[in-house]
Amino acid sequence: MLDESIQELASGYLARIASVQTPAELETIRIEAAGRKGALAEISKGMGKLDPEERKRIGQVLNAAKTQIQTALDGRKGEFDEKALRERLDAEWVDLTLPAPGPRRGHLHPITRIQRELEELFISLGFTVLDGPEVETEYHNFDALNIPPDHPARDMQDTFWLDGGKLLLRTHTSPVQVRGMERLGPPLRMIAPGRVFRNESVDASHEHTFYQLEGMMIDRDVSVAHLLYFMKTLLTAIFKREVTVRLRPGYFPFVEPGFELDIQCLICGGPGCPVCKQSGWVELLPCGLVNPNVLRMSGIDPEEWNGFAFGLGLTRLVMMRYAIDDIRQLQGGDLRFLEQF
Ligand code: DAH
Repeated sequence: MLDESIQELASGYLARIASVQTPAELETIRIEAAGRKGALAEISKGMGKLDPEERKRIGQVLNAAKTQIQTALDGRKGEFDEKALRERLDAEWVDLTLPAPGPRRGHLHPITRIQRELEELFISLGFTVLDGPEVETEYHNFDALNIPPDHPARDMQDTFWLDGGKLLLRTHTSPVQVRGMERLGPPLRMIAPGRVFRNESVDASHEHTFYQLEGMMIDRDVSVAHLLYFMKTLLTAIFKREVTVRLRPGYFPFVEPGFELDIQCLICGGPGCPVCKQSGWVELLPCGLVNPNVLRMSGIDPEEWNGFAFGLGLTRLVMMRYAIDDIRQLQGGDLRFLEQF
């Protein structure tokens, strides 16, 4: 009697085990059939009441049923495990023959790009590209440019002095004019791009660190007409279109006459914005004919030679060309900004 109901119970479980669809269903049946509180376990508990002969026989039937059920459970579990493994393998395969992604490429900073464009332009016009030190002597940054110690023009350039005087962070690229004249002598056609530093409070149009491109040409009978020719060539090459310019008298001790060449603001087109300080014009190209004192101090005879010089604001130029309205972006190092170029 008891052995029959055990067998019936077992075949019921076996049938259900054979037809389960998911590992969760299988687990439910496992607990019911083979768990410590399952039906077969209940029967085992009652076996103590049987006489020894009967206990032995039923024990064998019970064990056989348990083994069958366990084998069936293990079989189905194996199936589910294998299926899961195959799915994982399908999902996680990697094609080792694909080329590696490699390092992400950056690109040149917009200032570097414009600088290189201008270098190429001036090289094609017969100019040499010179480099000068960022830590300069007081002599090259000021005195040799006709700015003696007590000259008010020194106050126009807030200077980072080093070691209490004599050395400084160059406030402009003009000292490279002096180095060029000293080293190469006349005739001379040179440009000098580079970083300059001013002890300024920073805002949308002022930075403590920015870029200029200095230019100088010394030859015989150089006139304002030559200067204007080169400045126009320069601006057309950069903006690749007509830009409105105006020439004002400008004072710089190292040129005479001196000019401010302004361009109409390309950010706002004239009405005024933070970049042009609401004036509609941007000072871009101060320039002039080299002051004879400057030539003389660098050992060049102003009776025989003369020339022009200019100091292009490279940072301003980049802001104009790409319509950047805050100078702080350029040195900020924010990739979200830089990736736009
Ligand atoms: N060095 C001047 C500055 O930073 C700019 C400048 C003006 C340069 C006139 C020149 C020049 O070569 O001729 O303010």
